Amino acid sequence: MNWTRKHLLGLEGIERDEIITILDTASKFREILDRPVKKVPTLRGITIVNLFFESSTRTRMSFELAEKRLSADVLNFSASTSSLKKGETLRDTARNIEAMKVDMVVMRHPSPGAPHFLADHIDGSIINAGDGPHEHPTQALLDLYTMREYVGNLQGKRVTIVGDILHSRVARSDIWGLKALGADVTVCGPSTFIPSEVERLGVTVTHDIRDATVNADIVNVLRIQKERQSGGFLPSLREYSTLFGINAARVKEMKPDVLIMHPGPINRGVEIACDVADGDHSVILEQVTNGVAVRMAMLYLLSMVQASKRVEESDIIAEVSA
Ligand code: CP
Repeated sequence: MNWTRKHLLGLEGIERDEIITILDTASKFREILDRPVKKVPTLRGITIVNLFFESSTRTRMSFELAEKRLSADVLNFSASTSSLKKGETLRDTARNIEAMKVDMVVMRHPSPGAPHFLADHIDGSIINAGDGPHEHPTQALLDLYTMREYVGNLQGKRVTIVGDILHSRVARSDIWGLKALGADVTVCGPSTFIPSEVERLGVTVTHDIRDATVNADIVNVLRIQKERQSGGFLPSLREYSTLFGINAARVKEMKPDVLIMHPGPINRGVEIACDVADGDHSVILEQVTNGVAVRMAMLYLLSMVQASKRVEESDIIAEVSA
């Protein structure tokens, strides 16, 4: 098994073999989701906290479902109803979680690096469920899983990511993962949405949507964060939609078997037209289904690392007391 990490904090620096291990493990868990009884005892006795400081529909529900499918004990923490409102620091929240003997924490936070901070302060495993604009590793892993289901080996496959690359944690994690698997990645959007020196990540940059998509095997469309409009990044949503929106006419110019993806939530009629989001090329809801299997795989792999560490520790104690 090519997985020895205690935490999943991001895909930066991840090795190809590690990703393959996660995706192959997810394939085994994916099968469970089609059974009449979708539950296995794999994580019985393991306690997991879902610590969400930011809103989420897909990621939060997907983790909770993955944890329950694996028979873990699940606690849900919502910042809006917690003692953070009374001024408690993240460090003290972490120390209290630690005191409750929690095995794993799934964390979403608006600040980049917050899950890394938690990893330094508690003993359990941490999974980053999105830290500001930094990374969203399990979204990228479910994207990779879905791509691999359709196009097989991603080596040399052309993947275009369209939209707000600058503020997107999904784009960042997708790029790390896709590059590790050998894909050719193009990013496309208005220049205000393309980070400077993004080419250093090994991607091609274009501002021409036709150039970016006409030969692509996969087009991953990012949400236009409406809150960015006030930051002067976009003249108007209508202009963005005209220049970069993925509509039926644009899809007609693409490869006949092009895959259209979107991490959600979708702004219908802005970055993607309704008939494309719901059309034959779209695998958006399959991404959501696969997300549960990928998160089951991740929880399982981290639990295996914890179990092997416990065995190592008890061997050391046995040696010392012998
Ligand atoms: N894709 C994604 O992260 O969606 P949520 O914000 O709903 O979790």
